[in-house]
Amino acid sequence: MKMVIGLRNSGDLAGKIAKKAGASYSPLESGNFPDGESYLRFKKPVKGNTVYLVQSLHPDPNDSLIELVFAARSARAQGASKIVGVVPYLAYMRQDKRFKEGECISSRHMALLLERSLDELITVDPHLHRYNSLSELFSVPAKKLSAVKEIAKFIDKKFSKDSIIIGPDEESFQWAMTVAAIIKHKSIIFNKRRSSSRKVKIKIKKGFDWKGKRIVIIDDIISTGHTMVETVKELRRRKVKAVHCICVHGILAEGALKKLKRAGAKTVVSCNTIPSQTNKIDLSGLIAKELK
Ligand code: R5P
Repeated sequence: MKMVIGLRNSGDLAGKIAKKAGASYSPLESGNFPDGESYLRFKKPVKGNTVYLVQSLHPDPNDSLIELVFAARSARAQGASKIVGVVPYLAYMRQDKRFKEGECISSRHMALLLERSLDELITVDPHLHRYNSLSELFSVPAKKLSAVKEIAKFIDKKFSKDSIIIGPDEESFQWAMTVAAIIKHKSIIFNKRRSSSRKVKIKIKKGFDWKGKRIVIIDDIISTGHTMVETVKELRRRKVKAVHCICVHGILAEGALKKLKRAGAKTVVSCNTIPSQTNKIDLSGLIAKELK
């Protein structure tokens, strides 16, 4: 039997996935002891079942990673026949290089923990920059899904047909260009220089008349929001008519949503890979197809 189990960050999404996949659903009982240690318990027996553990690694990347690892190992100890980690947002992927002498390449160690606990991994739009594919990181089968079609559908339904799709940096081209190609919109990719987590500069090519244009900026992640904020500001300086921001993973740390609104973003929308008030694009159908 297929059993979908919702862990602490992804109960709602897991329930929707189970419904669409026609699988049984059970939330994991989880919490913390007074000293902070994790407690978890399966409410239904997992023995003999293929178990899908749904857990986004945000918020609380470290606690949620430990919970996923413990749940996977405990499911194995309790006789589950196959253990699949459904991790809609895979944290640590941006730490893919030793930027400074002595740094930990955390993505490698996150992957080691998961591959030793899971038989398979399913994730959505992982931040693949210096890795070309998940197989460079994971020795177990790791499937990458993409939200581009769902984002394209959303833009087609909600925003003007003449909107220009913007990718704020070189890495975002894979989302911005693909979405634009699906709905046949014009797309432009900007340049970004990042000197620290909170210092970003966006460069826009000269010679294009932005005045009065409607804009949709697309990126994989909004974290501190600085990438989007600086892009919105640059565009507003050039007198665009409206700017909307869309991302796959809405981390929205450190008041990013407020900062974006203050900068002049009309709408901020994310997919439901991470719990967030900005979630307007549902990916449960996309993920459920992988369970069939
Ligand atoms: C990095 O290259 C990603 O694609 C995003 O642009 C980045 O993670 C956004 O981060 P922030 O919101 O902190 O600027």
